[in-house]
Amino acid sequence: MERWRSWGMGRRPIQIWYAAILVLLATLLGSFLVAQETAPRPPQTGLLASTPEPVYSNNTNDPWNRIFYFLFSRRIETRVSEEFSEGAPFVDGVSTRTFERNEIGDRAIDPLYPSQIVDMGRRLVLTEPGYPGFTKALHEALDESVPRSTVARALMQSDLWGAHDILFVPFPAADEKELGERRLATLDLISRLIRKIALTPAEIKSLPNNYSAAVQRHAFPDVFGKDSGWIEVLGFHPRAHDSVAGFRRTARVFLKPAQVQRDMKEFLNGLPQRAESDPIGGLDGVALVTQLLLIDTEGKLHPTTLTSEAQVRMFENSDESRSKPNDGRFKTNDGTLKRTSLQVCEISRKLFVREPGSGGLVPEDDSMPAYDQGYGFGEGQAVNQGPDASILVETPIQVTLRTRCAECHGDFDADKHICDCAPSA
Ligand code: HEC
Repeated sequence: MERWRSWGMGRRPIQIWYAAILVLLATLLGSFLVAQETAPRPPQTGLLASTPEPVYSNNTNDPWNRIFYFLFSRRIETRVSEEFSEGAPFVDGVSTRTFERNEIGDRAIDPLYPSQIVDMGRRLVLTEPGYPGFTKALHEALDESVPRSTVARALMQSDLWGAHDILFVPFPAADEKELGERRLATLDLISRLIRKIALTPAEIKSLPNNYSAAVQRHAFPDVFGKDSGWIEVLGFHPRAHDSVAGFRRTARVFLKPAQVQRDMKEFLNGLPQRAESDPIGGLDGVALVTQLLLIDTEGKLHPTTLTSEAQVRMFENSDESRSKPNDGRFKTNDGTLKRTSLQVCEISRKLFVREPGSGGLVPEDDSMPAYDQGYGFGEGQAVNQGPDASILVETPIQVTLRTRCAECHGDFDADKHICDCAPSA
């Protein structure tokens, strides 16, 4: 119990003291008690109670829909930040109560979450009641002779590959004794299905470039366009995004210099030095476009034109008179005021399979709910606490998308990363 109280511990006693002075004792102590009762606990994640989402066809009983359900659809217990007023009361900016979120999971995330710090995501499909349903769906998918489109096979293979990598890692010895057999049996089914639905090299080549639909329909920058002014930077491998994705995807970085550069190489090589004093110096924007790798019928790896996620940050000139604190405005070295605007889109398998022309990429607003902490989804907060220095994990916190970005890229001006991916000399 004591161990889970780490979050904001330092500030709580002060709060009580002031409450006493202000004779608001009853109310404030009341909320303190609520906070105590619901002190941070490890994440509670379960399978969704509802039926599978009709992702790959209208039939919810389709084995592919059931596989998707076991890989992705979860009930997640979360706390919310004070960016969401409905979460009140808050202590130290986070709701004292927890909320349940039904996550269908049809977005740019890895299956079997949470799996980065805790591993209940995969335990759910290896224990009752998940295990029999999951393996039945895998068997049926192996036995069926239903034709599936190249896009559907590509997306499903990528997800199965992610599940394979997560299940490949043995549990600690005691748990492995109990679950090891099921783990290996499931791995075998998944491997066979990865192979069965693999695309030929020619099919992989024929896959659409779905990012272009995001450019046409949702005004994303044409980073692949020859005359768009955007250039791809190849330096700094391995990239954090590639490595957390187990190298099943590739995160491509693009920059848009503010002016036409006569010597692009010199401009790029100068970025890391200039970044010391002016992180966005000379840039209009930066973009990260994540694309899937696939395994072909011969077992060979291929890059593809399938984008699963795109994140863009544009640095726009901003009018000082309208400036409010914390709205993303910041001053550059030459004194101009800039604002970072974000553009984010994520894959929806359902949309892409049903309407291939849409490209399947769904744009997101920067005020949309997201989970904080790291690259995962609904993973929870790691807290290194306790005499044995073991890693403890608390319920995840729901924040806005913009706050999530700022957690890695710096506060609001989100300007910390550009130099990280510029090529070295
Ligand atoms: C967990 C940390 C983390 C979070 C959260 C995160 N990023 Fe990043 N981002 C990185 C890292 C690290 C890189 C450098 C590329 C790499 O190593 O993968 C990067 C690169 C980028 C780039 C490419 C150019 C650059 O600035 O380096 C853009 C654009 C970007 N991120 C936008 C976003 C947006 C928008 C969000 C919110 C939706 C976001 N990021 C959330 C860690 C993060």
